Amino acid sequence: MFRRIVYDSLDSTNDEAKRLGRAGLCVVANEQVSGRGRFERSWESGLGGVYVSLTWGVLPCTPSLLAIISALAVREAVASFGVDAAIKWPNDVLIDGRKVAGILIESVQGEGVLYVIGVGINTNNVPSDSLQAATLGSVDNGAVVEALCSAFEKRLLDVHVENLIEEYTTHCVTIGNEITVEDAGERHSGKASGITPQGYLILETASGARVMQDGTLVSR
Ligand code: BTN
Repeated sequence: MFRRIVYDSLDSTNDEAKRLGRAGLCVVANEQVSGRGRFERSWESGLGGVYVSLTWGVLPCTPSLLAIISALAVREAVASFGVDAAIKWPNDVLIDGRKVAGILIESVQGEGVLYVIGVGINTNNVPSDSLQAATLGSVDNGAVVEALCSAFEKRLLDVHVENLIEEYTTHCVTIGNEITVEDAGERHSGKASGITPQGYLILETASGARVMQDGTLVSR
């Protein structure tokens, strides 16, 4: 049901998806010249990788759960190529502890809200920081895009919050660990003990439980 639109090169598939401004699109680029990550970081986007943005209108759940659904969908798509893939909070996908995929969720207000879910997967490209980044290896990028679309379709059309939280907890390597999260310039440390029904991380700090809506893991 996502309509594929494929470009040789784009600034960013998220930016093109926003310019197109319609739900139900799957915007793909063979390379991006201004690929973006979370917190305005850049995302290496050379030839050989997968760069996709999916657009969605009315969500079947609270918007905060979209990060959880997206992490599960991307993990599932990656794992369908026969690798053991895990999630690092909030929505990085790892192979052997190294990041193979990242997700950037944005929204734009038009007649209604349009959600843009940008996914970058290192497949046949070799990222410059290859000590920290993994690659999926020699796969057909078209097959990866198909796997992504079907995982997202399935998950966005049939949402069961309790199952989502349980599945996310099973696959998320962050939960159960002592971690430090940086959010809005502040660092918070504690044990990541679970996920709220809204999809937020529960951090047991020395001064009590803190619910983290977003942030970057600075340790573990
Ligand atoms: C992150 O881990 O910080 C998120 C990276 C998201 C990268 C993808 S690539 C396709 C889409 N277009 C972008 O400019 N960014 C996302």
